[in-house]
Amino acid sequence: MRILITGSGGREHAIAWRLARDIGSENIFVAPGNAGTKQCATNIDCSYNNFEMLANHIDELHIDLLMIGPEEPLVNGFTDYLKQDPRFAKLMIVGPGSNGAILEGSKDFAKQFMNKYSIPTAAYQTFESKDKAAEYIRSLKSPYVLKADGLAAGKGVVIAQTEEEALKHIDLVFQNRVFGDAGNKLVIEEFLDGIEMSVFALTDGRNYVLLPEAKDYKRIGDGDTGPNTGGMGTVSPVPFANKEFMQKVVSRIVEPTISGIAAENMDYCGFIFIGLMNVGGDPFVIEYNVRLGDPETQVILPRIGGSFIDLLTAAATQQLEGKSIEHEAFTTLSIVLASEGYPGAYKKGNEIEFEPDPNDLVFHAGTAVVGDKTVTAGGRVLAVVGKGNNVTEAMIWAYENAERIKFEGVYYRNDIGFDLMKYENI
Ligand code: AMP
Ligand code: GLY
Repeated sequence: MRILITGSGGREHAIAWRLARDIGSENIFVAPGNAGTKQCATNIDCSYNNFEMLANHIDELHIDLLMIGPEEPLVNGFTDYLKQDPRFAKLMIVGPGSNGAILEGSKDFAKQFMNKYSIPTAAYQTFESKDKAAEYIRSLKSPYVLKADGLAAGKGVVIAQTEEEALKHIDLVFQNRVFGDAGNKLVIEEFLDGIEMSVFALTDGRNYVLLPEAKDYKRIGDGDTGPNTGGMGTVSPVPFANKEFMQKVVSRIVEPTISGIAAENMDYCGFIFIGLMNVGGDPFVIEYNVRLGDPETQVILPRIGGSFIDLLTAAATQQLEGKSIEHEAFTTLSIVLASEGYPGAYKKGNEIEFEPDPNDLVFHAGTAVVGDKTVTAGGRVLAVVGKGNNVTEAMIWAYENAERIKFEGVYYRNDIGFDLMKYENI
């Protein structure tokens, strides 16, 4: 079995690492990868958005299974592109076609889908012009949730505390067109007051298996302050997601989502990542993503027992029925080591000094190899993962792990997992 993973982040390093655990690293390729994926796979120098060049690599490398990491190529139809090429009649692809990826590619579409299949989510309206959107804002109470319809690299959602701020944002979207075409429509929705977490399923379009759940820390600063980022740390499992809550998640959200995907005849073989809010014990969907999360994958995949490759091939060949995933009981916690300045401007090229411990899990994100040195090459540089019997143990391990890595301007949050300790009897 020869596998190609596309992408260059910590998520892709974690996927390559987990698959190498199943089948060794010889037949695993990552395009383009980073300094970390080199340790458990072969990097292919090709952008994950260059469909033609990737297709040629898939052909020449005799790839059997393709796993598409990021959302952009999925939304832009990479799966569709490959499926109409006779060279790839037998290629197994983990990643939905564009008619499934639209669940992430259009927030308006996702809201319509949720309403159609009675999946709990915040009340909303979609607007295509400034005046109507502004009129709606004036009829609502603060805080206001405004979402650009299309892909906006994680920057499309704004929670405005005042009417003035919300109206200013509407101007930015429709007049200044800060999101380009991704802001042709604006979804304005009810604010949900609760605790966030994410659930993940692997589906073949009809059947599904549930992966371990995770909680992401999205803001840059301690205590959930400052601007949103791609994610600064994660924990799995989520201690407040008890059996009763997870049963509600499955029956009210996961099952109707998979039935909806089947009923709409979406070409959907891959992961669905559901961001949700626990509002007083009831789950509501905040968003769908059509891929795994980053840095959620870094804590989820170490907790999957058995063969991960078997699950991927079963999904890609519509044979997930009757399958299950072994969830390891331990807790994993990741801390993202970022470059000073992120999510704004930051410097690249700083040498990273590791003091490795064989028990450490360190996933690379924005890293590169220059000569014999590993250097920073992105905003989120590394994710260090700790393991333990509970959040506290995993946290201690992860922070000790983080302290062993040094580069100029290293920044990380100091409170990953703190809010979850109160849910544990330790
Ligand atoms: P998204 O890009 O959809 O993940 O949204 C970014 C963040 O905005 C989410 O992680 C939530 O913290 C927050 N958010 C989105 N929608 C809502 C909502 N309806 N109520 C409260 N917070 C929200
Ligand atoms: N960590 C959030 C995401 O991957 O979308």
